[in-house]
Amino acid sequence: MVTRNPFTPSFGIVPDYLAGRDRVLAEMARAFENGLGDPNLATVIVGPRGSGKTALLACIGDSARDAGWLVVDTIAASGMLEDILQQSAAEASGLVEPKPEKRLTGITVGQLIGFEWAVEDAGQANWRTRMSALLDVLGEHDVGLLITVDEIDPAVDELVQLASIYQLFVRERRNVALVMAGLPKNATDLVDDDRVTFLRRARKRFLNRIADADARRAFRQSFEATGKEIADDLLEKLVDAADGFPYMMQLVGFNVWAESFGKTTVTSEHVERGLTAAREEFTENVLKSTVRDMSKGDLAFARAMVDCGEACTISEVARRMGKGANYASTYKARLLKQGVLTEHDDKTFSFAIPLFREYLAK
Ligand SMILES: Nc1ncnc2c1ncn2[C@@H]1O[C@H](COP(=O)(O)OP(=O)(O)O)[C@@H](O)[C@H]1O
Ligand SMILES: [Mg+2]
Repeated sequence: MVTRNPFTPSFGIVPDYLAGRDRVLAEMARAFENGLGDPNLATVIVGPRGSGKTALLACIGDSARDAGWLVVDTIAASGMLEDILQQSAAEASGLVEPKPEKRLTGITVGQLIGFEWAVEDAGQANWRTRMSALLDVLGEHDVGLLITVDEIDPAVDELVQLASIYQLFVRERRNVALVMAGLPKNATDLVDDDRVTFLRRARKRFLNRIADADARRAFRQSFEATGKEIADDLLEKLVDAADGFPYMMQLVGFNVWAESFGKTTVTSEHVERGLTAAREEFTENVLKSTVRDMSKGDLAFARAMVDCGEACTISEVARRMGKGANYASTYKARLLKQGVLTEHDDKTFSFAIPLFREYLAK
């Protein structure tokens, strides 16, 4: 029986039970089987901090590897292009380095030379040329290359370069995929950048609220797999507190599990204490930093939303701010981009982050 806490309230860690991502992962797996031409091969994952972008990127990488692709993971920052090249070369060397007794079986000398040149002797050749040489070798082995980019930031020039060269690789019918993840504002700014218009056609995945049914299943499986029983009404309290937010799910699960350490039944005391601890940590790690990143106007808008009830309309918020609807709309757009708000189908909107409203009300 596993006695390790199955919850992982740490950024970038894939939890034991990933909730609500079955569909996107199934579609990505199919994309790697289909290869060239599948629209999911260029994907942008969009969501606020703690919505599970990095974890999803890691799982997408795994599914690419399962389909026989090479995967290189990067973060948007200067130096990323060289990093992609070096990593691809390291990964690819497994393909081209023949076992000693089988020297050169299956690969021609020409390929090896091209490959080594790309990695070592490239001299003045630019990134695209060196990368093309590598992709030629991969192509000969019928192996695709997935590049993942986390924390996308349109201010990073190399990211814009990567995106435009990727487009050329696709045009050359190379088996490449580009999956990127970022905060709503950064992702929208990059997609809107006129230098990389093709990204407008990339598949966008907005990491919205996880359905309660999926969260419930993940909680139940995590407790059961570690030999703990939890009653339905208590489980429901965890689901409510998580509010469909992946990081909050992990905080809630982790703390309740820790409270019940050494016991086989989770009690209501464990739940009460666990939820209190989870809320405190969430306030420290998410709410405070979110508020810190907001402008005065953003905050005034958010404060005006506190008394809206389930969802707000723009006229209601504008009236509370004592401003016109146009003025208020500017801040609504800003907060949507920052991932603080979500908009519903009927154009009403509410806070995207659990406990945010309660926090502001205090
Ligand atoms: N689908 C999911 N279901 C449950 N927990 C998740 C899920 N995705 C991520 N998590 C957890 O949520 C937290 C935040 O995930 P992370 O991928 O770092 O978010 P982001 O990159 O969007 O900030 C981590 O503790 C991670 O274990
Ligand atoms: Mg992340």
